[in-house]
Amino acid sequence: MSKYLITSALPYANGPIHFGHIAGAYLPADVFSRFLRQKREEVIYICGTDEHGVAITINAEKAGVPYKEYVDGHHKTIKAFFDKLNIRFDHFSRTTIAEHYPLSQEFFTELYGKGLIKPAAEQQFYCPKCERFLADRYVTGSCPKCGAPDVRGDECTKCGEWLEPSKVVGPTCKVCGTKPEIREVTQYFLDLPAFGPKLKAWLESKTDWKPNVKNKALSLINEGLVKRAITRELTWGVPVPLPEARGKVLYVWFDAPIGYISATMEWARLKGEPEAWKDWWFGKDVKLVHFIGKDNIIFHTIIWPAMLMGQSKPYILPDNVPGNEFYNLENRKFSKSEGWYIDTDDFFSKYSVDALRYAIASNGPETADSQFLWEDFAARNNELADTLGNLVNRCFSFIKKNFDGKVPAQGELKPEDKALLDPFQPAFDEVGRSYYSYKVRQALSGAMAQAIAANKYVNDTAPWKLRKTDIDRCATVLNVAARAIVNCAILLYPVIPDTALKILAKAGVPREGAPEFKPYTASLDNVALGPDDTLLFAKIPDDQIKAEIEKLKASSNPA
Ligand code: 2FM
Ligand code: ZN
Repeated sequence: MSKYLITSALPYANGPIHFGHIAGAYLPADVFSRFLRQKREEVIYICGTDEHGVAITINAEKAGVPYKEYVDGHHKTIKAFFDKLNIRFDHFSRTTIAEHYPLSQEFFTELYGKGLIKPAAEQQFYCPKCERFLADRYVTGSCPKCGAPDVRGDECTKCGEWLEPSKVVGPTCKVCGTKPEIREVTQYFLDLPAFGPKLKAWLESKTDWKPNVKNKALSLINEGLVKRAITRELTWGVPVPLPEARGKVLYVWFDAPIGYISATMEWARLKGEPEAWKDWWFGKDVKLVHFIGKDNIIFHTIIWPAMLMGQSKPYILPDNVPGNEFYNLENRKFSKSEGWYIDTDDFFSKYSVDALRYAIASNGPETADSQFLWEDFAARNNELADTLGNLVNRCFSFIKKNFDGKVPAQGELKPEDKALLDPFQPAFDEVGRSYYSYKVRQALSGAMAQAIAANKYVNDTAPWKLRKTDIDRCATVLNVAARAIVNCAILLYPVIPDTALKILAKAGVPREGAPEFKPYTASLDNVALGPDDTLLFAKIPDDQIKAEIEKLKASSNPA
């Protein structure tokens, strides 16, 4: 038994999130934590919204809304979206809570006190018209590397090059279009090179990390770490805790990961045990696992661990950082502004949450970019309907009709019965290993193989024929099939929790919390089936999917 502290990247409270985010950082973490709860491990799953930074201030200003009001709105929308998708956090917080500011300042003060953060003068753009320094995205111009026009001051959205506003070619102020002046200003720099050797040794000790994550982190170190400015001239954010640094706040990427800790503090406070967060963040036996998308690798494998290493309090370091690749929509990036997106209200008025979770998880971007394809979604939905839904429906309605709604008692088992039931133990072992090692696609194929075998068993044994010829054998077959169904539901629970629980309720299986991850051994003899007779999944017809694709194409307006 271990303790797991699981997090997903804190989404910016700067607009709705989409299925691409879900596939990268949220569904995999939800599946992992649900599975661990089935294994009776001790788990907390923490997340929240990332509410500072220039991307947010620019958009709030554009919308003419005070910053706090702006993030309040997005926090609510994002939280509701996770609820809808059954992403179950133990706590979903925000980086504007009371705990967050002093804690972030403490992180700064510790590093500053040890000389690991130092001030230095920097040339920065200043807009004479707006009378302010232009942090990050307040500057636009063309990319010095690829020449793309209108790129942001912090990153070229075309070629992905990391930029400093001062490197942008032909700079203008994003707000008023004025050509900015260069002025000197003091910023505070985190001495990443000082952490290089320790980070390298730590990363090299990680033998179970995904190669893409580990290699990316190590290559960043080998290319040579540089000092990074971790302060900005803004009024929105965590004030730099130094009297001489008035008017500066911490860079959003400095305070955001600290949000994992402040959210845990809030969680502890709300449950009336304000010190309980320490059992997690200072717990030597705790495995800290950060689920992220690949664009966040540098922050979670270099900068954040360095920030933690530089503290005097005994914070644990990440045990693993399962970083996923990108998840696109029909061969293009999800983009609401370009009309390349899925309206989620419309989506869930027609399709089930579990069908979506299953479709994303079966084809998740675990090792390479992948995508939501409408045809694939329909195929996955129909696979669930044909394999799982149909199996459950056939068996349970037959039992209801012919055995008074009770699973008939089993007689002696024949080889074909054992051939179905015996492989469940190795399947639980193997599928369990896959879930433990973040290989959800592999876990799902292992679990679905059992459902396919159960279907074949029911076809081959044909209980509807046995009913007339050998009622005892018919009873045994149904009992065996019911056991297989229950086991399939337990195997699939992390990915399709609602459906799995419905199946267990239909089967009359008593349950507390997540069903334990092991073959179900209690007798099903004469267990009364639950009252729910609704179908688990409806098939999606081809023409409906064609219409969805047409609708997507019609809404597309490449910017
Ligand atoms: O990339 C993003 O969406 C960031 N808001 C992720 C932050 S993760 C963590 F460090 F808070
Ligand atoms: Zn300006």
